[in-house]
Amino acid sequence: MPDATPGLPAFESAPAAYAGERVAVSLTVNGRAYQRAVEPRLLLSDFIRHELRLTGTHVGCEHGVCGACTILVDGEPVRSCLMLAVQADGSAIQTVEGLAPSSDALHPLQEAFWNAHGLQCGFCTPGILMTVTALLRDTPAPTDEEIRAGLSGNLCRCTGYQNIVRAVKQAAGQLAGESAP
Ligand code: FES
Ligand code: FES
Repeated sequence: MPDATPGLPAFESAPAAYAGERVAVSLTVNGRAYQRAVEPRLLLSDFIRHELRLTGTHVGCEHGVCGACTILVDGEPVRSCLMLAVQADGSAIQTVEGLAPSSDALHPLQEAFWNAHGLQCGFCTPGILMTVTALLRDTPAPTDEEIRAGLSGNLCRCTGYQNIVRAVKQAAGQLAGESAP
């Protein structure tokens, strides 16, 4: 029997039939196909970190404020703590682990963050890198203002953002050089 408080309607707990229910999810992450059966309540951030063991995606606030958990879902930056794993069924996901071209080479964006000391303590850096990946794809030569606006959803507590902006500009130049004929 559900608990009841005098004067208040009885609280109905979830039907026992749903407890432990699992749903099949198929998706690609960094070009690799995964299939898992997950609880419908599982966050995409937890799925990536705990089921797939891709712990480069960080979790800060878990309610959509800090941007640390940002990944690309079908090319668009998404806060993985605000999405359920089941909602990502059929998607192509990219995490920070998918940026570097190989285990002994960095992506130009990572290289620029290294050179300009944009990494700082590094906790929020994976989310920033994923946000900037989409930013530079859509705006290959951003102004400082465009970079700051693009990063406005990524909170970093250890910096004035100067080095990050510098790093993004370096990366933009590097990527423009790479794509020049
Ligand atoms: S952990 Fe997702 S936005 Fe902060
Ligand atoms: S690099 Fe973001 S809090 Fe330090």
